[in-house]
Amino acid sequence: MTAYVNRPLLYVSQHHDAMLCRLFSQRGWKLIFASNARDLGALPASSQPLAALLDVHSGFSDEDLESFEPWLAQPHIGWIGAITSRDALSDAARRLLGLYFVDYYTTPFDPGDLARSLGHAMGMAQLRPGVARATAQGTSRPDGMIGNCSAMQTLFRGIEKVSRWDTPVLISGESGTGKELAAHAIHHASARAQKPFVAVNCAAIPPTLLMSELFGYERGAFTGATKRKPGRIEMAQGGTLFLDEIGDMPLESQTSLLRFLETGRIERLGGTESINVDVRIISATHVDLDAAIAAERFRGDLYHRLCVLRIKQPPLRERSSDILLIAEHVLDGVRKQSPDKIRGFSPMALRAIQQHTWPGNVRELINRIRHAAAMCEAGVIQPADLELASPVECAPSTLAAIREAAEQNAIIEALQRHHERLIDVAAELGISRVTLFRLMRDYKLQVKKGDLGLVCVQG
Ligand SMILES: Nc1ncnc2c1ncn2[C@@H]1O[C@H](COP(=O)(O)OP(=O)(O)OP(=O)(O)O)[C@@H](O)[C@H]1O
Ligand SMILES: [Mg+2]
Repeated sequence: MTAYVNRPLLYVSQHHDAMLCRLFSQRGWKLIFASNARDLGALPASSQPLAALLDVHSGFSDEDLESFEPWLAQPHIGWIGAITSRDALSDAARRLLGLYFVDYYTTPFDPGDLARSLGHAMGMAQLRPGVARATAQGTSRPDGMIGNCSAMQTLFRGIEKVSRWDTPVLISGESGTGKELAAHAIHHASARAQKPFVAVNCAAIPPTLLMSELFGYERGAFTGATKRKPGRIEMAQGGTLFLDEIGDMPLESQTSLLRFLETGRIERLGGTESINVDVRIISATHVDLDAAIAAERFRGDLYHRLCVLRIKQPPLRERSSDILLIAEHVLDGVRKQSPDKIRGFSPMALRAIQQHTWPGNVRELINRIRHAAAMCEAGVIQPADLELASPVECAPSTLAAIREAAEQNAIIEALQRHHERLIDVAAELGISRVTLFRLMRDYKLQVKKGDLGLVCVQG
């Protein structure tokens, strides 16, 4: 998984301070180390640091410092300096610090203060003219989570923020909106990323087994317990425990979970040893927990333990501008597994996807596309393959509009059937090529070369 939330931090120094590096990564920075201008020049364009620390006191000459100027002048990077003392600064260092730096620290400094200042420097850089827009557009998104709409940008920023904390997070949202994807993203962007991520689906495990799944058991704890088995909580030691569908957890398990959250200790079933377990809890639910608490199906005290930070997944109906983006992303995935060549969605299919009222579940969209990829003819997905109403059927109201839409649809389909050979299309439709050209112009249809060969698009 690529780091998405780990904000790129450029650290320019003659030697790299391991303690500082550790602190920065704990604070959610992804370090890019450079010790000279050559290193800086070799940075990949994708690294895009947002903040940078120049360790002036590590012993750079004036010539070195001046060679950094092109990077110091980049408006999207917020620079902080580390110097020995202001009086000891050379003229060159003074000029550069005054011109380009948001702040500087004199040694010895408090690394925590420095890390905080880097956060401010990043914020300040984003306020500079021309920078804010580019950064907002480029809000990094977790792997596999597609979305440009404002609801998703808010979600990505929320994920980024909660990842920096080690407190419990509760992810709420309707079924199939990406709660599990968000839980993975938070873990992978957190300081626990290198440790295990262990998921427990509280709704899928029979209530009688849930306790032994969570807490593990000792040999002989019950009939069939032939050897000791650690529970999922213990397996997540040092990492993240994802309690999926927490709203469906039986009350008995809720009580034991609460005890664990209060003490940080577990006992395996049939055991006496108390084991210390350090995990970060992420839980998710599609259930309205307030209603579950009112109905006494969920413990209020457990809710307050789990819901310190909250993330809310927006339903698909609030991401209408992302639908085609997600559809294309899903189709790319399906294409890789398909035994047949899938060329893409027909223009009518794209319009049908856009016009359909998607209630909330991304899985519904995925399943329709998978089905359509299997059912489509000649690798082109039509509205019927998606089992969606053709836009022709649902949109026009007057007879003239219906006729036009049907005519347009017939031309598009014939173009696709004949791989855009216009002579064959005209022959099949029983019209001259001149008429075909005129109709294509009227309906703003053009034939253009796409990635997957010739495709018919609406201009
Ligand atoms: N933003 C997104 N971009 C691409 N795919 C997504 C996005 N959100 C969800 N998905 C896909 O939708 C499917 C459902 O996601 P996920 O399992 O994370 O949802 P969920 O909220 O946990 O669902 P459930 O409530 O059914 O458990 C997955 O295949 C996931 O990859
Ligand atoms: Mg889920």
